[in-house]
Formats: sequence, structure tokens, C-alpha cells
Amino acid sequence: MNLTLKIWRQKDSKAKGQMVDYKVTDISEHMSFLEMMDVLNEQLVNTGEEPVAFDHDCREGICGMCSLYINGEAHGPDRGITTCQLHMRMFKDGDTITIEPWRAAAFPVIKDLIVDRMAFERIQQAGGFISVNTSGNTQDANSLPISKIAADEAMDAATCIGCGACVATCKNSSAMLFVGAKVSQYALLPQGQVEAPERVKNMVAQMDLEGFGNCTNTGACEVECPKGITLENIARMNRELMKANI
Ligand code: SF4
Ligand code: FES
Repeated sequence: MNLTLKIWRQKDSKAKGQMVDYKVTDISEHMSFLEMMDVLNEQLVNTGEEPVAFDHDCREGICGMCSLYINGEAHGPDRGITTCQLHMRMFKDGDTITIEPWRAAAFPVIKDLIVDRMAFERIQQAGGFISVNTSGNTQDANSLPISKIAADEAMDAATCIGCGACVATCKNSSAMLFVGAKVSQYALLPQGQVEAPERVKNMVAQMDLEGFGNCTNTGACEVECPKGITLENIARMNRELMKANI
């Protein structure tokens, strides 16, 4: 396949960015999207140009680093996958592909396609943990019966990889799907009960402080989430917050 790429280039966080056109040729449909980006970067390095900066790590849908807005969709034109799992067979010869970074005030651009997602880390630090004494006097985990439904729902919530596609997709740049998932994974289990009221209050307060918008129930986040995190988690977070405030 021969393709035209329109890519957001921005020297650093202060520079004014712009879309720049590039051509790539002989791209195999079996390549992943990031492999296609590697081909472009090799081409740029060989001609003495600055390669395009983009985030990636595991390249197998686990780490949540790959954060590209492709043809106006977070993680591109496929469902239930991250950018690193997107394949070039989703495109056709002669296509023009637009590639942008996540766009949200709370995720400022660092360089080209890389954004700063430390806001998510700060939300996690505000309450996304349990404090357990691991000195050796711990209770046997099997002595706490947990229903299959609660275990499954907690596990589903815990699959959130913190990629930020929900924020990038939401017209309000809301982080509620992410925070809802993180609150839910503890709220559903007995281990999470002890700190539950403080956790939800602190995480939501940090979310607001970081400048994320509010949820207006459009559901776009759920559609673009690569891990299938559902809106139910936002409802659970709101219930937990109400309980904590009462
Ligand atoms: S909820 Fe989904 S889209 Fe949002 S950060 Fe988690 S995995 Fe990514
Ligand atoms: S590079 Fe790790 S999820 Fe894509």
C-alpha cells in the first residue's frame, strides 16, 4: 500500500504545532500501525529529518502507552483494541491517514504525538490503592468469601490500562470512565471497603483539580475504550461518592 500521512508535529510543549504531510510506500497490510510508523521514522532518519515522536511500549495491548488519534478516532478505526493492535489491513491503498495526539487540556502535548498523562498517575496516587499490612500476620484471602459476580465485575474494571482514550474521545474531556473503573475495582471487593469513602472522595477531587470535564452521558468513552470498560462503572463511582458524602 502507498499512503499519505498527515501528522501533528510539535517541537516541544511550548512550540506551535502543525500538520505535516508524509508519504510511505510498500506498506504491507499485515503490518501493525506502529510498524508502519517505524517505517516512516526509518525513512526520516535516512534523509536526516527528525523522526516523529510517539508513545509505545509493550505493543501488545497491555501497557496503555500507545495513544494516537487516527482519522478522528482514539486508537483508530476498529473496536476493542489499542493503537498497537491496529493493523494496516483496516486501510486501503491510496488512503490519507490523519494522525494526532490525544487532545485534552489535562493532557498537554510534550512533543509531536506524545502527551503528558501524569494527571492519571496523580489521580491514582490520591486513592487508587489499598493499605494492607503485609508483615506476615495477614488474613488468608480464602477466608473472605466473594461472590462470582462481584469478582468478575471487579476484574472487568481492573482491565483498564489507563490509556486515556476515554478522555480524548469525550467532548468534555471527562476522565470519569477511567476513575470509575479504578474506584470500582476496589469498591466491589471486601479489601477495598476500609478506605472506600476516602478513596472515592480523594480521587474525584484530584480528577476535578486536574481540569477534566464532567460526564454528560454521551457514551463515546465506552465506545472507544479498548478494554470494554462500561458506563456502569461511572454510575458505581457516583453512588460511592454519594454514600461517602452522606
Ligand atoms: S477506561 Fe478504557 S479508554 Fe479509559 S483509560 Fe481505561 S482502558 Fe483507556
Ligand atoms: S504499546 Fe502497550 S498497549 Fe499499545
